[in-house]
Amino acid sequence: MADPWHSPDPLLQPLLDASRERFVLDPYGYHGPVHWQRVYLNASLICEGEGIDSLVPRCFAFLHDSCRLDEHIDAGHGARAAEFAMGLREQGVLPPMSDERFDLLVYACRHHSGKLQEAEPEVMACWDADRLDLLRVGIVPDPRRLCTPFARLEETIDGACKRAMDWLEDRGWA
Ligand SMILES: [Fe+2]
Repeated sequence: MADPWHSPDPLLQPLLDASRERFVLDPYGYHGPVHWQRVYLNASLICEGEGIDSLVPRCFAFLHDSCRLDEHIDAGHGARAAEFAMGLREQGVLPPMSDERFDLLVYACRHHSGKLQEAEPEVMACWDADRLDLLRVGIVPDPRRLCTPFARLEETIDGACKRAMDWLEDRGWA
């Protein structure tokens, strides 16, 4: 298995390093960096398919679950990720982005575990990238709960489910 703490984009390595320092759960668990890497790939594919700039969704991948305190609901983890992102921006850890883009990143983190489906395209790409990886916890992604046309495609869902299933099999959980 590839190193889950390696960022495919060197520009995001400081962010992934910071999330690693912050993360307190099992790195090979349901909400750890192996999941973040699949969200990163899902985000990249959605953005390519939808013609959306991918910087915010790729940063989201490495941020959104970094402040979880458990593997269950942990209702505060989105808000903590949003606060964490603000601190990282002040410290210059995040890649350069406009204030508008940063606001989208914070919003996407804060609200990612709700049921919202309407937002700016970059935010919808964030949420879809995460929801496409639901098979890892035994849930087949429901196209009606996805936000972007590309994520709702059968091929997109099948591809994401296959990657999640491969991970479950690697872990001996499937
Ligand atoms: Fe997630």
